[in-house]
Amino acid sequence: MSSLKTIVHASQMLTGRGIRRKEGRHPKEQDLDTIIDGAIVADAERIHWVGKTSDLPKKYLKTKRTNLNQRQLVTPGLVDCHTHLVFAGDRSEDFALRCAGLSYEEVAQRGGGIARTVAETRRASAAELFRLAQPRIEAAAAYGTRTIEIKSGYGLSLESEIKILKVIQMLKRKYRHLTIRSTFLGAHDFPKEKSREKYLDELIKKMLPKVAREKLADACDIFIDEGYYSLDEGRRILEKAQSLKFPIKLHADELANTESAKLACELGALSADHLLQVSDDGILALAQSKTVAVLLPGTAFYLKKPHAPARRLIDAGARVAISTDFNPGTCVCLSLPTIMTIAALYLGLSKAEIFAAVTYNAAAALGLEDRKGALETGFDADFVVHPFARFEELYYQFGWAPPLMGKPFTGR
Ligand code: NIG
Ligand code: FE
Repeated sequence: MSSLKTIVHASQMLTGRGIRRKEGRHPKEQDLDTIIDGAIVADAERIHWVGKTSDLPKKYLKTKRTNLNQRQLVTPGLVDCHTHLVFAGDRSEDFALRCAGLSYEEVAQRGGGIARTVAETRRASAAELFRLAQPRIEAAAAYGTRTIEIKSGYGLSLESEIKILKVIQMLKRKYRHLTIRSTFLGAHDFPKEKSREKYLDELIKKMLPKVAREKLADACDIFIDEGYYSLDEGRRILEKAQSLKFPIKLHADELANTESAKLACELGALSADHLLQVSDDGILALAQSKTVAVLLPGTAFYLKKPHAPARRLIDAGARVAISTDFNPGTCVCLSLPTIMTIAALYLGLSKAEIFAAVTYNAAAALGLEDRKGALETGFDADFVVHPFARFEELYYQFGWAPPLMGKPFTGR
């Protein structure tokens, strides 16, 4: 009993219990199961009780207690289920070219893009990458993120990809109060120094088996798109990953429709991400599967591309998450609340849909929905106190900065 802690008088406590019961589909206001003047009892690991402060059972009255004020609400810890947070350098020059009118693809053809970050990340030591990643993690956490996925993918060689995955392991060890999931994205692009076939062969025969053997990743991802991996190459890599017991994720139908969302559903992927160009068949496939549609509206905003068809996905019954996609090229933003603002305005998501998209559905995109993304007895003691009276204020106040920030996210 001594390790129990009680938090009382939350202005709102959004439990999200109804969203979990509906597997994250068609989220509605009543599914938030919002408690006014809420209380929660938890030990370091699990939630013991959630309810109204006035209903707090007597047996918890002697536990260590924190009194919140009328401007503090509680939600499940936010989940940022798609980031590329470990990299060196920055892409401000790419940004300037894009501002001058060049497209993402044109900037990449001129030596910018992923290749630029790969070159800088290869040159950096693990210690340097670790140093650069820390203020990024801390910034994400300051905005309410408690679970964060981090992909490799700026190494594109056995040695450099392993280096990045080991940095993610170091971050897991340092930030034990957060949940960090690592995803192997060796198939982010093709390295310049070897043939496509040779790299594919290496990915399948050497890299994936080593990452599996050394338990360096929780999942495997791939960038299937025009100019990147083809659908057939994707299938080969993902089937190999599945044979090694990796859950899989896909960067799907972003720059062009390649029907990769359909492949994600066919293979039972945890998620299909981006989906700016997803086809009607892709939407149907997502609606009929458990694969989460992870939308990254900060990326569409930053690339000035048309947004993903979020309304059609949700109305068809797909499970929709949103995430930052934090990376140095296409979305240099670690604030999930800012992404929520873009989702509200440009994807047309309601309050309940936004809540589901950063809690239960985002947890499902990482395979964590049995213990995260809702406030329920037995779930992880993973919740966050936000400095706002009502949930909507988290994203109504656009681009707010929490205290404790001030270190740059990029650069050396
Ligand atoms: O998710 N789409 C592919 N990968 C990243 C972008 C990587 C980069 O430009 O550095 C993304 O947007
Ligand atoms: Fe991405």
